[in-house]
Amino acid sequence: MHQPLSLKYRPKTLSSLVGQEPIKTALTNAVTSIKIAPAYLFTGPRGTGKTSTARILAKSLNCLNSQTPTATPCNKCTSCKAIDAGNSLDVSEIDAASHNGVEDARELIERSNFAPAMSRYRVFVLDECHQLSSSAQNALLKCIEEPPSHVVFILCTTEAHKVLPTISSRCQTFNFKALSIEAIVGQLSKVALQESIAIADEATKLIARHSEGGLRDALQLLSQLSLMGEEIRPDHVIEVSGGIHSNDLAGIVQAICRGDMLAVLQSARTLIDSGKTPKLILSSLLAVYRDLLIVKSVPKSESAIAGTLTYSQLRQIASSLDFHSIDAALMQLQKSESQLRVTTNGATWLEVCLLNLIQKNERQPLPEQQVSRAQYNGNGNGTTKDLNSVWGQVIEATKPANRTLLSRAKLVSLNDGKCVLAVQASDFKKFQTNIASVERIIGKALEYSVTVAIEQQEVISV
Ligand SMILES: Nc1ncnc2c1ncn2[C@@H]1O[C@H](COP(=O)(O)OP(=O)(O)OP(=O)(O)O)[C@@H](O)[C@H]1O
Ligand SMILES: [Mg+2]
Ligand SMILES: [Zn+2]
Repeated sequence: MHQPLSLKYRPKTLSSLVGQEPIKTALTNAVTSIKIAPAYLFTGPRGTGKTSTARILAKSLNCLNSQTPTATPCNKCTSCKAIDAGNSLDVSEIDAASHNGVEDARELIERSNFAPAMSRYRVFVLDECHQLSSSAQNALLKCIEEPPSHVVFILCTTEAHKVLPTISSRCQTFNFKALSIEAIVGQLSKVALQESIAIADEATKLIARHSEGGLRDALQLLSQLSLMGEEIRPDHVIEVSGGIHSNDLAGIVQAICRGDMLAVLQSARTLIDSGKTPKLILSSLLAVYRDLLIVKSVPKSESAIAGTLTYSQLRQIASSLDFHSIDAALMQLQKSESQLRVTTNGATWLEVCLLNLIQKNERQPLPEQQVSRAQYNGNGNGTTKDLNSVWGQVIEATKPANRTLLSRAKLVSLNDGKCVLAVQASDFKKFQTNIASVERIIGKALEYSVTVAIEQQEVISV
């Protein structure tokens, strides 16, 4: 039978559990020092390892290949195997969502009085325990506080706030964290390698970002994508997860930056016609602007990016925006998102929102973009100073080896990523032949890509 990847790769030992380091340490210490609590509460987002850890703990307590509880259960004895298969007589996994009544709780209490059939402990794993009714939770109180010495309760929940405080205060609580992008990428790459699934690095990252810290979702998406029978690329991930293509999003944002109303409206229309909802378009744009804010404010922020645009796409767009316009756009998008919830005509609201974004952007022109050739030529005004200071920064950020040559040039205009340098006739050829490197150096210093044109000037006064 075909087994889903998320089940096939369920961690069987604490060492194969990804992330959750504090929990691993605490459980290892508890088990090796035989300080077993009567009740544990595992909380955290879905697909982060709660049920897996509950099973590992049950095996640790009951492994028959060890005289005492062990942090490294053998996974081979009848007890370990039965727990993995979910048919152990001593370890019961109870779905609290469907057994949530007070009668179910009473039955559980009764069962807990029996001695274990073949191992040291009877373990009750109560999944989704927040679904227990309050009367069921109350009925369990005493039993959880002082169960028979051979009984351990493990309560799992994604919604800790719904568990009665009287219950949670009687349990040892472990908070499972949403897994980091790197952790998910690591596990996805490992699984892809073992399953011979060809996948591009960018696509792995995109799956990780899309799954919001849950490994089950990430593995399920990988599983689904692997059926396509060709190398998984970022486009595939976006397609299958129903998202909007990064180029389409980048296109809209760039058109907003340019103030190109027609292009913005046309792109929005095309997306809607292809079945994307106004809500999805807005929330995807919100994610882009959120990422732009991060790229703009934090250097080397690649790992904090959450949306579908790549880091270099974001950097390029961010270079033509300032904080205020990004901030204003975020506010506008948030406002429109709530309006969209109460309106029946989503497409129109989306258009209104996009047009507002253009206006907000136009009111916040960018200092770099203001610095145009025409202004420079207008005899030594403040703009020349701006260009000189930009050029000073570029030279500062350049390696000493290149500094000498670059400092012989002068920046005469910088507009829309187009940069004009004036050099003396004797240097002209040298700059021309190295233009690609000059573009790279300047692009690196300014943190966005530029094209460079070289102009010959007779005398350069700096
Ligand atoms: N920390 C982790 N390390 C390795 N794999 C994990 C981890 N968390 C989740 N997984 C993967 O996701 C699958 C589901 O994990 P698990 O059942 O433990 O999640 P859960 O926290 O109980 O989720 P839920 O709240 O939805 O019940 C596992 O079989 C495994 O493939
Ligand atoms: Mg679970
Ligand atoms: Zn064992």
